[in-house]
Amino acid sequence: MRFPPGLVVVITGAGSGIGRATALAFASRKARVYLVDIREDRLTEVKKEIEKDHGLAFVKVVDCTSPETLKSLAAEIYEVEGRVDVLHNNAGVGHMNDIQKTSIADWEWVMNLNFYGVVYGVEAFLPFMLKQESRANIFNTASMAGLLGFPRMAPYCASKFAVVGLSESLNAELADQGVSVTAICPGLIKTNISADGRMNYREGNANIFDRFGGSPEKVAKKIVSLVGRSRSVQTVASGTYLLWLIKRLSHRMFSALLRRSEARENKKRRQTQDLS
Ligand SMILES: NC(=O)c1ccc[n+]([C@@H]2O[C@H](COP(=O)([O-])OP(=O)(O)OC[C@H]3O[C@@H](n4cnc5c(N)ncnc54)[C@H](O)[C@@H]3O)[C@@H](O)[C@H]2O)c1
Repeated sequence: MRFPPGLVVVITGAGSGIGRATALAFASRKARVYLVDIREDRLTEVKKEIEKDHGLAFVKVVDCTSPETLKSLAAEIYEVEGRVDVLHNNAGVGHMNDIQKTSIADWEWVMNLNFYGVVYGVEAFLPFMLKQESRANIFNTASMAGLLGFPRMAPYCASKFAVVGLSESLNAELADQGVSVTAICPGLIKTNISADGRMNYREGNANIFDRFGGSPEKVAKKIVSLVGRSRSVQTVASGTYLLWLIKRLSHRMFSALLRRSEARENKKRRQTQDLS
């Protein structure tokens, strides 16, 4: 599909990483981009970058764990624009730790933004979208961790599996009513997710995102290419893609691979502890 100029796009977590890259990508295609984030300093920088390239961006400082604030935001944007063509529920946080060291507060912190932040975004914008004349796309940033249950990432994986489930269900329900819903599933991407998150890396694994992560621009390009389409789940190629293929081929083989790799890690850890 040819990209229609003048799209109205709302992106949460637009101050950094994937959200920032997606905002720049849409703005460079003449969209009117609403930049939503909890960090005003980051939004101001992204707005400046967009305006430097003669794009149009509007800053909205919003905590996406607040359903009321998102509802007010949706009403405010519809009052001005009359429609939203793309909603990208993207704001999220990272968490990695042994389950024994993971508290209920950690579970709530992850779920409140990664899962409920998406639910609140849908709840705020969908009633308006269903009434507008043109079609709309909702992109929810999930993750390969929403398709594959990695060890030491239970809350994060649970939140992202939930985002994949809700997106698939909503797309089946709403595509015929003019709203397509897609779970975007990237692998490791180099962003601020590690620095801002609650990451307890194992020795030697520190900052895997910076070391092995792909570029957020790759995710942005994929999202832009999905405008006007109704795909429920979209992966973005990465090192973990092979694991996804293995899981689709044989769930049992995938599970055995993960268990074996975890056993190797545990053995290494025990040996290090013995030596110290
Ligand atoms: N980086 C990766 O490897 C990776 C891979 C797959 C999926 N994701 C997902 O991509 C999304 C974006 O993450 P990123 O990697 O670009 O991280 P990032 O930390 O670079 O960006 C996240 C943005 O969300 C904002 N934010 C945090 N809490 C917020 C809140 N309560 N309300 C509004 N905004 C808030 C932050 O200020 C930040 O600007 C997340 O949902 C993340 O889980 C990341």
